[in-house]
Amino acid sequence: MPPRDYPLEPLWLPFTANRQFKAAPRILVSARDMHFTTEDGRKVLDGTAGLWCVNAGHCRPRIVEAIRRQAETLDYSPLFQMGHPGEFRAAALVAQLAPEGLDHVFFSNSGSEAVDTALKIALAYHRARGEGHRNVLVGRDRGYHGVGFGGISVGGIPATRKAFGSMLPRVDHLTHTHDLAHTAFSRGQPAWGAHLADELETRIIARHDATNIAAVIVEPVAGSTGVLVPPQGYLERLRAICDRHDLLLIFDEVITGFGRTGRAFAAQTFSVAPDLITFAKGVTSGTVPLAGVVVRREIHDTIVNSAPPDSIEFFHGYTYSGHPLATAAAEATLAVYHEEALFERARELAPYFEDAVHALKGVGPVIDVRNYGLMAGIELEPLPGKPGARGYAVFLKCYERGVMVRVTGDIVALSPPLIISKGQIDELVGTLGTAVREAATPARA
Ligand SMILES: Cc1ncc(COP(=O)(O)O)c(C=O)c1O
Repeated sequence: MPPRDYPLEPLWLPFTANRQFKAAPRILVSARDMHFTTEDGRKVLDGTAGLWCVNAGHCRPRIVEAIRRQAETLDYSPLFQMGHPGEFRAAALVAQLAPEGLDHVFFSNSGSEAVDTALKIALAYHRARGEGHRNVLVGRDRGYHGVGFGGISVGGIPATRKAFGSMLPRVDHLTHTHDLAHTAFSRGQPAWGAHLADELETRIIARHDATNIAAVIVEPVAGSTGVLVPPQGYLERLRAICDRHDLLLIFDEVITGFGRTGRAFAAQTFSVAPDLITFAKGVTSGTVPLAGVVVRREIHDTIVNSAPPDSIEFFHGYTYSGHPLATAAAEATLAVYHEEALFERARELAPYFEDAVHALKGVGPVIDVRNYGLMAGIELEPLPGKPGARGYAVFLKCYERGVMVRVTGDIVALSPPLIISKGQIDELVGTLGTAVREAATPARA
């Protein structure tokens, strides 16, 4: 291995056990299609599309070339009170892919910013139509909506909140839908659990009164807390309750967007149309940060038309809201998805992927396997008194054997690029099975 010509210490890594990592770093130096290359020259199969984002595969020449050309042509242009062609084209392309009626796009750079933007749009919308008292935001336990104060407030992961004091003041949470007693080893959408949506009406609306609630935000499939697939009928019920009480429904599709469930958005896969969709990651296949919110025309028009014509209607935005390199990457990425029919490919591969991951049932400490589209969660029984230790051991064993998986506690998540082949699915799941067997306690091995 060539010697490292950089120090490890100055970098503070995100969502990482820094001391553990620096004692045995895992450094990736290049990537192509389905594989990373490590600093010691090993190939690692990408079973996670990076962080759920590299849906088109790595270093695709068309996307690389578009970014290069844009950097030479217009590296940056101010984005407030100015525009550049790429951001309009990219917005039109994203809107075209979105469910009917969601046709305006506000760009941000990260999923966290997209979520905070969506929450602000919801609040501004109600205010613009004279209902500014609607300011309660409803999230869900085990939801992940990034790390801004808005996102951690509506999110349902205590660890993302516990060190950071006050949250947004008017927030409530639905119960999550994960219950192994009823749903373990479901293929696709579990049959049990639609009734859990009813508590939006019976508990949350009853507590706050519907007239005070602005919006409900959920991930259609919760990704970061371990691939929690919505029970059959659950999202439909949420939609119906929101309709009855004039609540906006936000789907956080930062992970599920751009083909992960076999269509552009999970809203289309599940045939439930929200009022706002947050997106990020797959829009540029992870190449350049870009994210945003797609909103219903009526929401856009209400906010924009309620302000005097020469005033800024929505006092919000980022220096890089629609950065030229990012929108160039988005245009090229969306062209690759279209030309290679990658969303359809994900849909066609899903049954094969499902069979492959469900073959892990019965392997050592596997207590659940769940899946939708090209995403799967494999839940392991935690080692007594050591939550997360078994999951981390499996992650390391897979990495040593040339396969990248993601773990959240003792749940392994798989979300490969949509270009994965059947042979690579076999390799991914086969290696995971070996790692899980090795991580079994002697008693269960
Ligand atoms: C559903 C969801 N929302 C928001 C985010 C935050 O995105 P980012 O890390 O780009 O801020 C993530 C990240 O994984 C996510 O999965």
